[in-house]
Amino acid sequence: DNLETQLEALQDFQVIAHRGASGHAPEHSMEALQMAHDMGADYLELDIQLSADGVLVAIHDETVDRTTDGEGAVQDFDLAGLKALDAGSWFNDANPDRARQDFVGTEVVTLDEVIDRFGTQTRYYLETKSAERDPTLEAAMMEKLSDRGLIEAGAVVIQSFSQESLQKVQAINPDVPLIQLVWYYPESDDSDALVEWTGVTPGPESISDADFQSVREYAVGIGSNLAYQGNQVIDDDFVRQAQTNDLLVHIYTINAVPEMEQLMRWGVDGVFTNFPARLIRLVD
Ligand code: G3P
Ligand code: CA
Repeated sequence: DNLETQLEALQDFQVIAHRGASGHAPEHSMEALQMAHDMGADYLELDIQLSADGVLVAIHDETVDRTTDGEGAVQDFDLAGLKALDAGSWFNDANPDRARQDFVGTEVVTLDEVIDRFGTQTRYYLETKSAERDPTLEAAMMEKLSDRGLIEAGAVVIQSFSQESLQKVQAINPDVPLIQLVWYYPESDDSDALVEWTGVTPGPESISDADFQSVREYAVGIGSNLAYQGNQVIDDDFVRQAQTNDLLVHIYTINAVPEMEQLMRWGVDGVFTNFPARLIRLVD
């Protein structure tokens, strides 16, 4: 069926361009996405939220404060308000070595604009980012993806830290591959106890096959961090155990070549990166 076909495409190692080639251009900008596409990334990763007037937009944070010249919650802005913001100058300020004059005045992009640009032959790795705040997000996103032919084309993976959100997506259409995101961190500085797996407990040290199987009921894989504040939080045993339970393992967000190489030695199924060309060179 459709899901089987989509899973075949995920068997190879996947280069997932995190918010586009966001190391080179403002995250989620059309330019960052275009660069990732041109580099040959397998997936464009986008965090999706709903604007106040119900438009699906690509932005990571709950507020516009960090990545635009505005202030306030994303969900309090209508599309016109978001479009009026400068979503590029912050990148120049934060990355003087990579600053470009044409980033000034970068616009927040809508999911529709991204699909207009890249079409159904490009693959998208979409995160339901504001699922708790917007109970209509999943239905709006799935309707859009279906209307635009992306689901039929097998062009989409949906990821979320929220198990509930993924299960809502699955109830709408079981033919879309889902990735359960997890975020592990040490319980305290002097402990390597790992406590957090958003949506699913426990942490990797005490995780059982049954825990993985409970994720396997709705998801094709897990997306995990590798380290928290410089401390590694998962190891190759974790990767192997997940894969033994028929789960793909994708790791975020890896920008350094030695870590990319380490993860490839571990046999992970994909890596999220702000620098897709670096990772593609290793894969090749
Ligand atoms: O989606 C994988 C990774 O992007 C999760 O973290 O905070 O960058 O969305 P975040
Ligand atoms: Ca994300």
